Amino acid sequence: MPLSDESIAKIKEAVDILDVIGDYVQLKKKGQNWWALSPFNNEKTPSFSVSPNKGIFKDFSSGKGGDAISFVMEMEGLNYIEALKVLAKKYGIEIEEVNSEEDKRQASERESLHIVSSFASDFFKKHLFDSEEGRTVGQTYLKERGVLGKTIEDFDIGMAPSAWDGLSKALKNGQYNIEFAEKAGLLISKEERVYDRFRNRLIFPIHNLSGKVVGFGGRIFTNDKNQPKYLNSPESPIYHKSSILYGMFQGRNAIRNKDECYLVEGYTDVISFHQGGIENVVSSSGTALTVEQIRLIARFTKNITLLYDGDEAGLNAAERGLNLILEEGSNPSVVVFPDAMDPDEFLRKKGFEETQKILDQKKDFIDFLSERLLGGAGDDPVKRANAVREVVKSISKVPDLIKKNFYFKRCAEKFGLDENLLISEHNKIKFSERKYRDVREQKPQSLSSQQSRVEIDPKMLLAPREAELLKIMVLFGNVDVEGHGRLAKYILDNIREVDFSHPSYSKLLQFYKSLDPEKDYPESEDFFRDQELETFKETVIDLTSEKYEVSKNWKAHQIHIPTLKEVLGDKMSTDIFRLKWTKLKTLIKDNQQEIKGLQEKGTDEAYDEIVKLMRQQKDLKKKEKQIAKLLGNVISA
Ligand code: GTP
Ligand code: MN
Repeated sequence: MPLSDESIAKIKEAVDILDVIGDYVQLKKKGQNWWALSPFNNEKTPSFSVSPNKGIFKDFSSGKGGDAISFVMEMEGLNYIEALKVLAKKYGIEIEEVNSEEDKRQASERESLHIVSSFASDFFKKHLFDSEEGRTVGQTYLKERGVLGKTIEDFDIGMAPSAWDGLSKALKNGQYNIEFAEKAGLLISKEERVYDRFRNRLIFPIHNLSGKVVGFGGRIFTNDKNQPKYLNSPESPIYHKSSILYGMFQGRNAIRNKDECYLVEGYTDVISFHQGGIENVVSSSGTALTVEQIRLIARFTKNITLLYDGDEAGLNAAERGLNLILEEGSNPSVVVFPDAMDPDEFLRKKGFEETQKILDQKKDFIDFLSERLLGGAGDDPVKRANAVREVVKSISKVPDLIKKNFYFKRCAEKFGLDENLLISEHNKIKFSERKYRDVREQKPQSLSSQQSRVEIDPKMLLAPREAELLKIMVLFGNVDVEGHGRLAKYILDNIREVDFSHPSYSKLLQFYKSLDPEKDYPESEDFFRDQELETFKETVIDLTSEKYEVSKNWKAHQIHIPTLKEVLGDKMSTDIFRLKWTKLKTLIKDNQQEIKGLQEKGTDEAYDEIVKLMRQQKDLKKKEKQIAKLLGNVISA
C-alpha cells in the first residue's frame, strides 16, 4: 500500500545517507566524499563514492547511482515504497499507509484549502487598496510604521474588513466551499452562524516554501489591551506551525547566498529587515523554535543567528534555541539588541548602519552562554564552575567531533582551563545522559541488526564447542598436522589461554596438558582398556558416540559424506576459532553486565571502572571481529 505524503516526507527528512550505506559497506573518508569498495561488484579498489552533502552515491564500477532510497532499492531488490518502509523501520518512524482513494481525497482537500487561502489573501489585499477603510485605517497604519509599497507587495500584506462577514460574503459570492474556508481557519461557525475569524486587522499571509499561502497572522490596529495583539490561523492540513517559518519563501535565496539566517520573533521584524535590505531573515512567529524549523533552515544554511531583545524571556528563549540548533548540527550565534528594542524598532530608530554594526557583533554560543552565566560573577569559583559545566553541556550536544574539539579549545581559552579537564567533564555528562536515554527511548535499530537474529546466550554454546575439540583430540591426537607436529599438541598450543567451562571436559583437557607432547597421546581405545584412564571413560563415550544418524535419503542417493578424518584439517581450525569466538562472546557479555551494574551505581569510582571496562570491551570486540572474519563471518552463535 502506498504511504501518505507526510510519511514519505518524514522518512526523507530522517534519512542520513552515510548511516544507511554504512549499514552495508565500510566507508572511508577521502576529501569531500566517502569511499568504499563497491557493494555491487567485487572489484578490489575503492570504486564507490558517497557525497553526504548532496545525499547521493555513485558506483563507478557499475554506473549505478542515486539517493539513499535508490541504494536500498538496489541492495535489497525492493521497489520504491518497500525501500521507504525499510528506512522508516530503521529510523523508528511510524508510517501512515493510505489506500489510493484516501490519498486522493487528502490531496484534493489540501488543494481546496490552498485555493480558498489564496482567494482570501487576494481579498485582504484588495480590501487594503480598494476600500475606504483600507485607505483610511490600513494604509495609514502602514505609512506610520514606514512600510513601503514594494514591501507590501513582496509580502502580500492586506487588511481584514471590520465587518463580521466581509470575507464570508465574498466567498459565498464566488461560490467557494464554506467548509474548506472553515477548515483553513478563515471562518468560524457558531450556532448555525458563520463569521470571519480576522476582522479589522492588518493581515500578514504566511507562505510555504513554494510560495503558496497556508495561513495568516492578523495584527490589531489599536492599542486595545482587551484584545490579543495578534491573531493567527489555527493548524490545518496545510498549515503545520512547527514546520513553517515566516519569511522563508521571500528570504530563501538570500539565506543561501549569505550562508546565514537571522531568526527573529515577529512578523514585523522580518518585514522591516527586508525593507532595510537584510533579506536573510525568518521568524517563528511567536512560537518556540522547533527542530523541524531548524532542519528547514539547514537546507539553505547551517549558520543560524538568533536575534533577541535582551529581556529575560528573550535570553531564555535564545539559550533554548542554541541547544536545539547545536543538537541538529547547525551553528548558532546570538545578537541581543540593547534597551529591549526588537529588531524592527532598532532598525527604524537607528538605521541600517547601526543595525549592521550590531549584527556584526554577534556572539558565538560559547561567548553568549559564558557571559550570560557569569554575569557579574567575576571570579566567584562556584559560579565559574557552573558556567563551565553549562557550556560543556551545550558542547556535548554537538554531533560533529571535529566541531566539538574546536569548541573545547575555544571554551578552554575562554575560561583559562585545561582542555582535557573539559573533555573529562564532557564524558561524565555523556555518560549520565546515556544511562537515562538508553532506557527512555529504544534506539532505532540499524538495518543489519533488524534482520532479527535470535540471541542465544553464548555460554550455552561453550560446552559443545569444547566437546568438538576434545573429540578430535581423543580420536586423532597422534595424527601429524603438517609442519605443526601432533594434532593434540597443535590444538593445545592454540587454545592455551582458554579454560574449559564444562567440568568433565576441563578435567580431560588438564589431563592432555599434563602429557608429554614428545610421547604418544593415548588412542581412543586406550580410554576403555587402561586402568589409569578409567576416570575419563564416560566423558570419552559421551564425546565419541555418534549423535546423529546419517540421513537415509543421503545414503539412498549415494551422496558422499566426508568422514571426520577427511575434513580434519579444516574442521580443527574452524573448531578452534569457533571456541575462541564463543569464549570472547561470553567475556563481552559478562563485561557488559558488569558495566551495567556499575552504571546503576553511578558513583565516581564506578565511572572510572566503567571507563576501564569499556576499553577492555573495545579490545574484545576487535578480537571478536577478527575471528569472525577468519570464520568467514557466516557462523552465527
Ligand atoms: P509589533 O508590535 O507590531 O511590532 O509586532 P511585534 O512582532 O513586535 O510583536 P511582539 O514582539 O509583541 O510579538 C512577536 C510575535 O509574537 C508576533 O509577531 C506574533 O507572531 C506573536 N504574538 C504577539 N502577540 C500575540 C498575541 O496576542 N497572540 C498570539 N497568538 N501571538 C502573538
Ligand atoms: Mn515590534
